[in-house]
Amino acid sequence: MERELAMEIVRVTEVAALASARWMGRGDKIAADQAATTAMRAMFDSVSMKGTVVIGEGEMDEAPMLYIGERLGHAESPEVDVAVDPLEGTNLVAKGYDNALSVVAIADRGNLLHAPDMYMEKIAVGPRAAGRIHIDDPIEHTLKILAQVNNKNVNDLTVMILERERHKHIIEEVRKTGARVRLFSDGDVGAAISTALDETGIDLFVGIGGAPEGVISAAALKCLGGDMQARLVPSDDKEYRRCVDMGLKDPRQILMMDDLVKGDDTIFAATGVTNGELLKGVRFLSNERAETHTLVMRSKTGTVRFVKATHYLPQKPHLVLK
Ligand code: FBP
Repeated sequence: MERELAMEIVRVTEVAALASARWMGRGDKIAADQAATTAMRAMFDSVSMKGTVVIGEGEMDEAPMLYIGERLGHAESPEVDVAVDPLEGTNLVAKGYDNALSVVAIADRGNLLHAPDMYMEKIAVGPRAAGRIHIDDPIEHTLKILAQVNNKNVNDLTVMILERERHKHIIEEVRKTGARVRLFSDGDVGAAISTALDETGIDLFVGIGGAPEGVISAAALKCLGGDMQARLVPSDDKEYRRCVDMGLKDPRQILMMDDLVKGDDTIFAATGVTNGELLKGVRFLSNERAETHTLVMRSKTGTVRFVKATHYLPQKPHLVLK
């Protein structure tokens, strides 16, 4: 992949964030998601790549655009896999809560796991703990390792956990060790990424969330030198068969970082939609201008860029509230 691709992808997440931010606080998560998806899809036409959506808005028969298998980009090379989440945290935008993002991950063709839309167990850590964790270790053991490598007392560790009934036992186990828990209502891609950025003070992300979000998180952590392990959670026979069809002999196998994202060339971009720990959200300024904040990185070079941009908003239909 050419390095320019990273900057081209910034435009894609920026435009999706700008479009969905118009829907912030309006109580309509479907409209917010559609706005992001439409804007993102249109911007992909300007990107120099031959991309195929491997993680998107759904199967071809259920999603009008950014569906799995859809061809993106206007060039014949490089041939890449594309994972998109035009709006990660649809409820967050609908309610005006923090931490909604627009995200895209790209890797050479065949290098992203084609994760189906089902649940996935996940554990994510930053670079110092890479190679030192195991998804099946007792949480107490994992926290001891994290205390060691991050040079902190267990009491000072912070663990991000999605606030769901299914995580009650993990929350209790973490609290028993003395470590601190930060619950969040939605958006586990941002939570996973925050483990690899020192300034957040987050040491561990653990829990069950969407499988597509899991692969996107792994792409981001690969760029940051962090680590992630996962395991799909098929809920019925149909989901189990889907895992087998996608080539997993054992759908319950542990997925290591390289099973989620192969190779050493991955590009990841995220633009803040609402304010968040990682990125500021879209701000609409006077005179039809708006400001965006984007994180863009590439695993091959290890470059991590924060791009602040001011946009003049032309009256494009996808940016105008209907
Ligand atoms: P959406 O953007 O599709 O609403 O997903 C938000 C999210 O919180 C993800 O970050 C997370 O992986 C998943 O939903 C958790 O699913 P559930 O809400 O079913 O627990």
